[in-house]
Amino acid sequence: MTTAPQPPKETRSFQSILVTGGAGFIGSHVIRRLLRTHPNTKVVNLDALTYAGNLANLKDVEDHAHLHFVKGDIQDRALLDKLFEAHGFDAVLHLAAESHVDRSIDEPLAFLETNILGTAALLHAAKESWTRRGCMETALFYHVSTDEVYGSLGQEGLFSETTAYDPRSPYSASKASSDHVVRAYHHTYGLPTVISNCSNNYGSHQFPEKLIPLMIRNIVDGRPLPIYGEGINIRDWLWVEDHAAAMDVILQRGWVGDTYNIGGLNEWRNIDLVHKLIDLVDSRLGRTKGHSLGLITFVKDRAGHDMRYAIDASHLASRLGWKPSVTFEEGLSHTVDWYLENASWMEEVTSGDYQQYYAKHYDKR
Ligand code: NAD
Ligand code: DAU
Repeated sequence: MTTAPQPPKETRSFQSILVTGGAGFIGSHVIRRLLRTHPNTKVVNLDALTYAGNLANLKDVEDHAHLHFVKGDIQDRALLDKLFEAHGFDAVLHLAAESHVDRSIDEPLAFLETNILGTAALLHAAKESWTRRGCMETALFYHVSTDEVYGSLGQEGLFSETTAYDPRSPYSASKASSDHVVRAYHHTYGLPTVISNCSNNYGSHQFPEKLIPLMIRNIVDGRPLPIYGEGINIRDWLWVEDHAAAMDVILQRGWVGDTYNIGGLNEWRNIDLVHKLIDLVDSRLGRTKGHSLGLITFVKDRAGHDMRYAIDASHLASRLGWKPSVTFEEGLSHTVDWYLENASWMEEVTSGDYQQYYAKHYDKR
């Protein structure tokens, strides 16, 4: 039985952090940040290198003395026990997941396995190790989750930490389940946990199945820009570096048992965002204004498509002092430049598997 969330006695520092999913989009950003802001901490990146995980995302830090990579599955209990034993982790930053909503509609079971059973395996390994080593008081298990657990908003209102869960896709249901399992380990076993639920991230190194990098890539190549439904669904966009900064502050000062919503205070209708991207890319490539507008193609809507997500991040702001550092204009401009300057990264991550999935996915629409 646990009490209400409590602040840490002092700012935490860690000897050894296990980051899961560090070869993915957000994981690679947070690893880069941790190596900078925790110079004395060992960082072990456990990643299965699925289609979404790519060591090209960490090329600039691959030789860092404090970064270790392990290729493996978070569902592998024996591997987890071995890693806890070998590295003596005092923190887990858990990002590994199947993360793409469209894929969860096509192949839900992989999401339930990785996102629920994988999280449970990690929680169990942490509980066993920290109980045996007597470090439940100082360790931290940080679970990274999504605002999609709260369901879909109408035109008004924001998701807060007390909004009732109402997940509606296999992806969001799997993330909601994993959040519940994390809370169960906290309340039942006293495992020191913290959860954050954030909105749509954007920035460099994002796999080009997600809206922003997909659109940039297709505008550059002159390919159709598939907009689901009427393009009026709204997302709240968060700069991935601001998300990494929020995770860092939560690792250091987050209250055990607490939940933090993280958002960019930055809502856009999909169609308006795509117009913005067309303007930016066309202008960078020296094309006339409106050159790529004709590529916009309205396609069959996503099944169960959530209408609007928007985050009230005031709890994180008031308790831990975090707020977004860039405007959307700055973040998007930087993002477009990065993709234009890193065409070889795009080539590298879009493997044969991805080409096949992409063709199959859009054939069905
Ligand atoms: P991503 O798909 O880019 O990366 C996921 C990473 O997890 C990949 O490197 C992949 O190889 C790894 N992985 C997948 N299954 C694994 C397994 N069984 N064992 C070990 N590694 C495995 O995802 P992302 O966008 O970086 O998201 C990271 C986390 O943040 C996820 O938990 C996601 O639910 C959450 N999140 C993402 C967003 C977003 O906008 N991208 C928003 C809110 C929350
Ligand atoms: O809100 C947080 C979530 O944001 C994360 O938990 C997920 O991991 C992440 O994938 C993201 O989910 P979305 O489904 O919102 O992101 P996606 O980029 O797939 O889609 C953004 C919006 O754009 C959504 O309304 C669907 C629409 N869309 C997407 C694609 C890929 C299109 O209209 N066309 C497309 O081709």
